[in-house]
Amino acid sequence: MKRAFTLLIFLSFLLFLVPSIHAQSNLSTEAKINKLLAQMTLVEKLGQLQQLDGDYQGNARPEQFDLARIGLLGSTLNVRGAKYTNDLQRAALESRLKIPILFGFDVIHGYRTLFPIPLGMTASWDAAMVENSSSIAAAEARSVGLHWTFAPMVDIARDPRWGRIMEGAGEDAFLGSIMAVAQVRGFQGTDLKRQDKIMACAKHFAAYGAAEGGRDYNTVDMSERTLRGVYLVPFKAAKEAGIGSFMTAFDDLNGLPSTANPFLLRQILRGEWKFDGLVVSDYTSVKELIAHGVAADEKEAAMLALNAGTDIEMVSRTYGQNGVELVKSGKVLIKTIDGAVRNVLRAKFRLGLFEKPFVDENLEKTTLKKPEFMQAARDAAVKSFVLLKNEHETLPISKNVKNIAVIGALADDKANTLDWWAGDAKAEDSVTILEGIKQKVGGRTKIRYEKGCELLCDSDKDFDKAVDAARDADFTIIVVGETRDISGEAASRSNIDLPGKQLDLIKAIHAKGKPYAVVLKNGRPLTINWLAENSPAILETWHSGTMGGPAVADVLFGDANPSGKLPITFPRSVGQIPIYYAAMPTGRPLETENRYTSKYLDTPNTPLYPFGFGLSYTTFKLSNLRLSSQNIPKTGKIRFNVDIENTGSRDGTEVVQLYIHDLVASVSRPVKELKGLHRVLLKAGKKQTIEISLDAKDLGFYNAANQYVVEPGKFDVMVGTNSTDGLRDSFSIIGN
Ligand code: BGC
Repeated sequence: MKRAFTLLIFLSFLLFLVPSIHAQSNLSTEAKINKLLAQMTLVEKLGQLQQLDGDYQGNARPEQFDLARIGLLGSTLNVRGAKYTNDLQRAALESRLKIPILFGFDVIHGYRTLFPIPLGMTASWDAAMVENSSSIAAAEARSVGLHWTFAPMVDIARDPRWGRIMEGAGEDAFLGSIMAVAQVRGFQGTDLKRQDKIMACAKHFAAYGAAEGGRDYNTVDMSERTLRGVYLVPFKAAKEAGIGSFMTAFDDLNGLPSTANPFLLRQILRGEWKFDGLVVSDYTSVKELIAHGVAADEKEAAMLALNAGTDIEMVSRTYGQNGVELVKSGKVLIKTIDGAVRNVLRAKFRLGLFEKPFVDENLEKTTLKKPEFMQAARDAAVKSFVLLKNEHETLPISKNVKNIAVIGALADDKANTLDWWAGDAKAEDSVTILEGIKQKVGGRTKIRYEKGCELLCDSDKDFDKAVDAARDADFTIIVVGETRDISGEAASRSNIDLPGKQLDLIKAIHAKGKPYAVVLKNGRPLTINWLAENSPAILETWHSGTMGGPAVADVLFGDANPSGKLPITFPRSVGQIPIYYAAMPTGRPLETENRYTSKYLDTPNTPLYPFGFGLSYTTFKLSNLRLSSQNIPKTGKIRFNVDIENTGSRDGTEVVQLYIHDLVASVSRPVKELKGLHRVLLKAGKKQTIEISLDAKDLGFYNAANQYVVEPGKFDVMVGTNSTDGLRDSFSIIGN
């Protein structure tokens, strides 16, 4: 009895002590973490490493309230909304140590105000715009009680069969890094305690985008040099920008699943890069170590993941169920658990959750869908569009045109204004393309809308109506592409043509010989050879978010001039995949007349549309490339100046791109590598000199020993407006 009484006194003392530790602002974060850790039982520690999934409405499940109350729920995903997060947080603060819950969610390209998909955003080549959109997404997300987004996805992807290509920045490490940094800055800002910032998460570590055959969740076998020199580059950039967390990947890399991969997590991430944030597994990827065939059971799965450095287990529960035994048996050291818990607590301190665990429930009402957010989404969408073809200035359409036909089920389908990763965006907030066109010219122009066929376009029975509409119209806008569910996670395709009979629909309209433009709405490069050859105009608009419709109308009717550039190569056929501009040279480069050179017998080597390509309603001319020097030391810098002139009659933006080729190195280097870019807005007829500079240290690579080196030698440089042609010169890096 006496002992129980003493224990009670001791516990009440602890209760009194705990909040005071949190509030002791003079202690360093690390000291606060240490104090807290010293009071935690092993079971409570394991609770901090558990992340569970809320229900479909965004509320926590009843069991999660129970776990929170006893301090066994460190974080959640998908629980969202100020009320729901506060309710669960209240339960967590009833627990012994009052450690707040970290609320995570996939805020990929917007929370309520939906921006274009990341692949589309990247097509803007505009880091400032991307940073701003992530910052808006962060403000909306934090206002509903979220602290953490599972974004950016910085996986390089060179296989458009892979559905998740839409979630990332495309095929290039340099452009991917710029976009990664922009998103980290936008989501996190400089102070995670702010009520409009959230912690970002670089995913999926690593090489998930290289899934064999483009089939999601598939294996990856890759040289360490390609891994370090291409696939890890945007991750490292995100780390250097101060990202707070990393997520492991579903794939196995060279036989070792990423979630149990000490080479990735301990050697590279913690050892070489000195990352002190937290690492979360992907959804049930700890338990999946069993299916991967590296763990016999859940206990072994937990052991492998913990020892490899996966701090938080998402959804599966192997840590909680086996952690105590693993520590008792010495298979996992308590210092490994403590290290993982430290990373979780550090994130919570950085986010200010101990001081301010709850969100102000009025904030979401005044934050979500602000008019300026909607305007930003519209501007972002405009910048993401890529004009692939525009024969005889088919576009823009004159606003004086009397009759317009709009064709295609995707033109007016609210649900399909959203895409696979639509955050908490609501279809009813979106404006469809048809609505956007009506808002723009509906007052004076007659608009007839015909679907032609349903979304999947498996029947041509209504083609006639669409063809009639096109025949009677002065101009026809045909909207075709992919529905929201055929790109994104678990949405690999072996055929990347326009789905269903959509091409037949276009052909039927084309046969009438009247002017028309094709608007593409899709999440990946498509094989559109017939369109490229026959259709007068093609505008790639991706999945463009809440304000995609008005943005399409802005561009179609010339209120905005398209300036997007492809962040990914468009192949001619699936057989060319993988096809990307930064290819390695071959010992037998293509010679058309010589059979024994590297080529296909049945298709050219070139893509349909190259990386970096995109037209404008105006034209630009580059001239007078100047280099600050022909020779630079390894520690030096080189400046490139070039004149750019808007030679057309409209104002427009061009993206000047700088590519290099390291001619002779100790290992083969790609035939071209993007190393610089400059977006410039020029009034019609105006000319300007722009400058791009490079540090010699950024021209290095991983050598045969997988060490980053800058080797002396000659480099070709090309400055152009896409990856295939431009002004050329060369320079050398000198020294030993
Ligand atoms: C995806 C992750 C995502 C997680 C949580 C997984 O299936 O691979 O990218 O963050 O689910 O929704």
